[in-house]
Amino acid sequence: MSVKNNLCDFVLFGGHGDLAFRKLMPALYHLCSDNYISSESRIITVSRKDISREEHIELVKQKLIEFLPDDSFSNEDFEKFKAQLYMVSVDFSNIDSYEKLKDLLNQYDDRDRVNYLSTSPDFFGSICQALSKWELIASTSRVVLEKPLGKDLQSSRDINEKVLKYFQEDQIYRIDHYLGKDTVQNIMALRFSNRLFMPLWNSNHIDHVQITVAESVGVEGRWGYYDEYGALRDMIQNHLMQLLCLIAMEPPCSLDANSVRDEKVKVLRSLRKMSLSDIETKTVRGQYTQGAIDGKPVPSYLEGHDISSSNTETFAAIRVDVDNWRWNGVPFYIRTGKRMQRRNSEIVLQFKSVPHSIFPNNGATICSNKLVITLQPNESIELKLMNKVPGISDTMRLQQVDLELNAPLETKRKPDAYERLILDVIQANATLFMRLDEVEAAWKWSDEIINGWEENIVPLKTYTAGTNGPSASVQLIAQDGRSWNDE
Ligand code: BG6
Repeated sequence: MSVKNNLCDFVLFGGHGDLAFRKLMPALYHLCSDNYISSESRIITVSRKDISREEHIELVKQKLIEFLPDDSFSNEDFEKFKAQLYMVSVDFSNIDSYEKLKDLLNQYDDRDRVNYLSTSPDFFGSICQALSKWELIASTSRVVLEKPLGKDLQSSRDINEKVLKYFQEDQIYRIDHYLGKDTVQNIMALRFSNRLFMPLWNSNHIDHVQITVAESVGVEGRWGYYDEYGALRDMIQNHLMQLLCLIAMEPPCSLDANSVRDEKVKVLRSLRKMSLSDIETKTVRGQYTQGAIDGKPVPSYLEGHDISSSNTETFAAIRVDVDNWRWNGVPFYIRTGKRMQRRNSEIVLQFKSVPHSIFPNNGATICSNKLVITLQPNESIELKLMNKVPGISDTMRLQQVDLELNAPLETKRKPDAYERLILDVIQANATLFMRLDEVEAAWKWSDEIINGWEENIVPLKTYTAGTNGPSASVQLIAQDGRSWNDE
């Protein structure tokens, strides 16, 4: 592809942090090696670390070797990539220390600049202020904000207001890395390029929807952060809400950023408000105790931390109702958890049963159709249909079979979500990023639940690591006569 237009200065604030080394540098390395970014572009790490450019290049190399899958690091590609790497040491809260950055950036003052803020949000305001003071923000500049974008509506507003003093809304790219996943983008392709689903995608035919994002990992090295946030703020307010929006939204009039985001925000505004008694009956929170995953023992959430108890949920399940014409009476059951039996993210659309069965089927019930969209670890889309058991028998027997959508990758390597998103920012395409009103609408809904939980009306249940969460989560869906796809 031609890369002429993908020429920019990519300024990575917090470029020596964990996310930068694990995800952002590998993504930039691949985008450069695959010629999606012009080789003239500069990747400028801005960090508090005071090291030379040579030391920085060596550090990036070591981290790429550590974090890229075995066969994707190439010395030859790195030799080219390293010419694009620059480093500036800045104390984020000292405005004067940005002068070196200004000198470097002003070598090419006609370039688009992407400022990626992979720092604590506490620094977002001072970084933007410094960029403005040193006249480093042009109308073509963009700023990318990493989560967490607040702990609630108010703190999210505070963060956004600080950035909005210096950047216009259409220059701000709020990342939700789930939107960069291929299968997540495929939800729109599936829904809006197949007429087949058009008449079926509503309460006339769909009984309910399940969204599960189960992780087998624990909170890894982020206990301090996680204990303040918990599953609802860490996963549901953003990733699961975005998935729900993509499933529930009306067809946008185009793929243009605002058309898609207008439709998503309408879904978020249609989420039914939860009274305290709804929160009591329609939400579940849990925390894992020690158990085993893949036959290996794993410690409890609290173990290894100098604390005897914590009220933070590592699992949450919620029945969500979307109050609009399309989804009237169709519950969305969503759940997420750490240290669950296996890593599995899926969306299940459970269709209603046939109005009347003409098949004796030896007393067995006809299973309702299901569309199962698996996001990870293995991406797949399966439509579960009833089919005749082949061969002769006394009566016609039926069985459920999978109609599987199989789209082999055209490339050797499956790109990471961050590659898609970084390329989109460089190309100034904001479709897969969250607009301010979306973020606020999601917080408004989450805040009600968080407030209810803070009043302790929903006791924190425990679940053994390596299971599918507390039994209350099974009851949550069973009370409506339904069951999770894994039961
Ligand atoms: C992050 C959360 O946003 O998403 C983490 O902060 C979580 O707690 C991660 O583990 C999950 O992402 P993925 O892509 O591995 O499903």
